[in-house]
Amino acid sequence: PLPPPFQRPLVVPPVLKPVRSTAGEDFYEMTQRVADVEILPGVRTQIWGYEGIFPGPTVISRRGRKTIVRHRNELPVPTVVHLHGGRTAPEHDGYPTDLVLPRGWQHHGQHGGDLRVGERTYEYDADQRAATLWYHDHRMDFTAPNVWRGLAGLHLVADDAERVLELPDGDRDVPLMICDRSFAADGSLAYPSVDPELVAPPGVHPPYEAGVLGDVLLVNGIPWPAMEVDAVRYRFRLLNASNARRYRLRLDPPAPLVQIGSDGGLLERPVTHQHLDMAPAERFEIVVDFGAYPVGQRVRLVNDFGDGSTGQVMEFRVARTAADPSRVPDRLSEIPRLDPAAAKTVRDVVLQSKAIGQVHGWTINGEPFSPDHDHAEPRFGDVEIWNLYGDFHHPVHLHLVHFQVLGRGNDGPGQFDAGWKDTLDLRPAERAQIITRFDGHRGRYVFHCHNLEHEDMMMMGNFSVR
Ligand code: C2O
Ligand code: CU
Repeated sequence: PLPPPFQRPLVVPPVLKPVRSTAGEDFYEMTQRVADVEILPGVRTQIWGYEGIFPGPTVISRRGRKTIVRHRNELPVPTVVHLHGGRTAPEHDGYPTDLVLPRGWQHHGQHGGDLRVGERTYEYDADQRAATLWYHDHRMDFTAPNVWRGLAGLHLVADDAERVLELPDGDRDVPLMICDRSFAADGSLAYPSVDPELVAPPGVHPPYEAGVLGDVLLVNGIPWPAMEVDAVRYRFRLLNASNARRYRLRLDPPAPLVQIGSDGGLLERPVTHQHLDMAPAERFEIVVDFGAYPVGQRVRLVNDFGDGSTGQVMEFRVARTAADPSRVPDRLSEIPRLDPAAAKTVRDVVLQSKAIGQVHGWTINGEPFSPDHDHAEPRFGDVEIWNLYGDFHHPVHLHLVHFQVLGRGNDGPGQFDAGWKDTLDLRPAERAQIITRFDGHRGRYVFHCHNLEHEDMMMMGNFSVR
């Protein structure tokens, strides 16, 4: 039986402390390990967690200071860490075959990446605008089950341009990592892998090929939590960390969701929504003014794309009035428009379902992922337009760069497309047009569908910045 909702308080993941710092660098250590935690009341659940917790600890980078994280892999399978939304050098980006093998791992030779044993140190320049990023596993063919077991955490970049705005902060700046999971009767996380040991072959059983959904919604790892709030403005950093589930979020009773940021940080101006549609891996930063409600009000965050247990996300309880020094300025940041006339290249990228030999697969331009093949070779600094075509809901994610949405079909950008994006909620039978500049680093990066089952079933490609 599922636990009753809104019983447990929301918990915010702990912020990881550096093990040491120098003038320009902060060093962190994390261990990926198996842990037993209580997610559902009264039962133990085995997870794979960064530092043994799910979500993992939050890393906070100050813009311009280098963040260096040494990850130890004490899990029974290979792993690789990707900082989603990071402008990261290719050797630190968590390329899917750059695996960190467990010590004593016996299964060799499947892919020829940059293999390490036991640990790897990842370096992040954090030379990018303030934003809500996240880190998660990216193991070739097995990202979905690795993330499902808990390998995901938040990584925030902070900067002065954002700090001077006086947006809600401190304990009124709250990350909400939303995801769905299923549990077996014994409390274990249930995932329909073809190989339960996650060695080979990859993939899920056929009924789950479109994506694995769970019936329990977790916010920061807690099923349907409740949060006590003052009757003031709060900033929420929403992340859809689900493998495959999309959400349509709104408050009940209603209040405006004032969007201030997206994947790549602050928008130019706030955008007011009544509801928010979120595909896997997207981030939305919103401000909610609980001063709009009477003290004592219970406010639900609901999901109109769910039903039954997945129709509710969490509850806020407006506990008391309080002083509110925060504000939401009309002008949040500067976003220079990328000019379509400056585009050197226009590419078509088709995401579609296709049989690959005997098995069902998900392909890009008709091809399954291969680490050796580039779909695009932009020159450093080039602006390109990509036309994305999909046959299904495919959240399309590009590593390294952030992009702007030029339009969907014959229309302009959608209502949830504002700002710098790194993941686009591509809908069935849709063409979306994005524009980006390939800079920051040279080298080979992946782009892929962030429905993690689609990704594991080959819906991934490479681009190499020359
Ligand atoms: Cu969120 Cu390629 O990843
Ligand atoms: Cu997809």
